[in-house]
Amino acid sequence: MIDNQTIFQTLVEIENSLRFLAANGCRGFAPTGHVLEKLEKWGKGREAFTETLESIQADLGDCQRCNLARGRNRIVFGDGSPNARLMFIGEGPGAEEDRQGKPFVGAAGQLLTRIIAAMKRSRDQVYICNIIKCRPPGNRNPESDEIKTCFPFLERQIAALQPDFIIALGTFAAQTLLGTTTPISRLRGRFHVYKGIKVVPTYHPAYLLRNPDKKRDVWEDMKMLMKEYRYED
Ligand code: URA
Repeated sequence: MIDNQTIFQTLVEIENSLRFLAANGCRGFAPTGHVLEKLEKWGKGREAFTETLESIQADLGDCQRCNLARGRNRIVFGDGSPNARLMFIGEGPGAEEDRQGKPFVGAAGQLLTRIIAAMKRSRDQVYICNIIKCRPPGNRNPESDEIKTCFPFLERQIAALQPDFIIALGTFAAQTLLGTTTPISRLRGRFHVYKGIKVVPTYHPAYLLRNPDKKRDVWEDMKMLMKEYRYED
């Protein structure tokens, strides 16, 4: 007969082990067929082991993990379909995004919306987010500790979404995702891979607003993607 004290002690140890694993980046367990069968009998499925965009957002909460929390109005988590096959990743929220809590809703966002439409998609069929989720003061570049703090949440969003393609918009997104310092002008024009997902680096829409002659390159990149992407409708 096991006494209550032993059961309690065991539960505390299990909890501590799970907390340790979570703190070290473990986000779930790959269930074996046998375990899945049991779960299905209990009315649960594979989703019992995997994160959703909602659960990641809930974990992010009213994030105070870095200094950007002090200057922001709204956290810009991400927007679009949880079943999206195309994921667009920009740098970080600007003033309008910070006001609305949505990514790419300012002038650069309007251009991005037109690029998505030219690809015969709409914003609610894709997923749009950024490397960092809070606006840096005065739109300065994100600092390395801010990216280090925020990026794990984006990695979890990518893992939850499992898109077929990531379009990395601009130097920041492309270099952070691909772990490189190669300039965007040399990264664009071909596919790269992030954790098995095809990445298409291209120029940022804000850069296109200043350099409209580069729109042609972005369209070439999108055409390369569309050739590879099998539309279902
Ligand atoms: N620029 C970005 O990189 N992201 C936004 O959400 C808006 C502008």
